[in-house]
Amino acid sequence: MNNFDFYNPTHIVFGQDRFAELDTLIPADAKVMITYGGESAKKYGTVDKAREALKGREIVEFGGIEPNPHFETLAKAADIAKAENIDFLLAVGGGSVMDGTKFIALAAKDDSGKYQNILFNGFEPVPATEALPLGCIATLPATGSEMNMAGVITYNEQKYPFMSPLTFPKFSVLDPDLTKTLPKEQIANGVADAFIHVIEQYLTQPVNAKVQDRIGEGVLKTLIEDGPVTYADNDDLDARKNFMWSATTALCGSIGAGVPQDWSTHMIGHEMTASFGIAHGRTLAIILPNVLRERKDKKHAKLVQYAERVWDITEGTDDEKINQAINKTEAFFNDLDIFTNLTHYGIDDEGIDRIVNNMEKMGLTALSETGDLTLDIVRKILVATK
Ligand code: NZQ
Ligand code: ZN
Repeated sequence: MNNFDFYNPTHIVFGQDRFAELDTLIPADAKVMITYGGESAKKYGTVDKAREALKGREIVEFGGIEPNPHFETLAKAADIAKAENIDFLLAVGGGSVMDGTKFIALAAKDDSGKYQNILFNGFEPVPATEALPLGCIATLPATGSEMNMAGVITYNEQKYPFMSPLTFPKFSVLDPDLTKTLPKEQIANGVADAFIHVIEQYLTQPVNAKVQDRIGEGVLKTLIEDGPVTYADNDDLDARKNFMWSATTALCGSIGAGVPQDWSTHMIGHEMTASFGIAHGRTLAIILPNVLRERKDKKHAKLVQYAERVWDITEGTDDEKINQAINKTEAFFNDLDIFTNLTHYGIDDEGIDRIVNNMEKMGLTALSETGDLTLDIVRKILVATK
């Protein structure tokens, strides 16, 4: 196992009917900005429930944060937060609203006049010293944003990740009931996103990190069991709870501590979202099977472990186990009605060129845990996914 730091200060408030506790989670004298997306948080009454729990505090609402949230929208919110002297941000929504609110938290304390600087640090922390405190009411299990310090923002039609220890939510309320209004395809996207968060931290090279591996395998097995149940049955609360906690656990830092990580599928997926508007989790499910097929040799030992421990494949040669495990992974996504070929999404040879060219512009030319996944290989993966 490699050396690591693990720091995660987010207080998780998990379960049904815990809204009233918001009153104890946000200071009584705070002026609060509630942020939300297009309509779901208003339409289903979540914003109103939060307002009710926070009675007595001054509240400003900022709605309209888009999926794959846009820089311009968030800059506007940050300007309002400054003008209104907001003390606390409360995000009500999915990954886009939570990520967007992390950006607002940093921008509201940034007097440089260039909020763009928050976005241009790659995987290095944003060099900021202050941020507004924020809390989340998570309504979509998928990204893990509710318990991590990262965000992804769309700027000039490109997706930029950023991270800062200052943007760990102070708390996140995870109420499985809030996810019952999700359209089915968002459940499928969420299962795929959480699954692939584990894969990108787990399916690399072995470093004998037993705890990280076994947490990862536990999350993957839970998603395989309870993802399809949640997808099919809106009323299975046990499955929904397990799905929700799987998504949070997948990207709260414990699986990725002290192990090599490979975010290739995410980097290719981000370009597919930026260029073609395909939802985040879906892009990953489309790409992952052929990333694994292409990187079979590099990931050999972990792929055998994945086949045996996650898919319970014990018969056959190592290669047969690996092939079966990758095919089962793809079938798992297909059973959630996610098509895993580019043609289905209208992406042709020209589309592949566009993805590869944009990745080059973004400097994404040496991906993977070994830094040798070049754009030629990205193209090969995309062509195999046609
Ligand atoms: O805008 P509203 O009306 O709220 O509708 C949203 C949106 O259309 C809807 N929705 C959310 N909760 C709902 C609901 N509809 C009904 N009932 C509910 N309870 O779902 C749609 C998608 O929401 P969005 O937040 O965009 O989806 P998701 O949670 O998948 O977030 C995706 C974003 O997170 C980023 C992605 O790049 C993308 O921008 N990621 C963030 C990460 C992180 N912070 O660590 C890691 C991820 O890999 C990912 O990159
Ligand atoms: Zn993701």
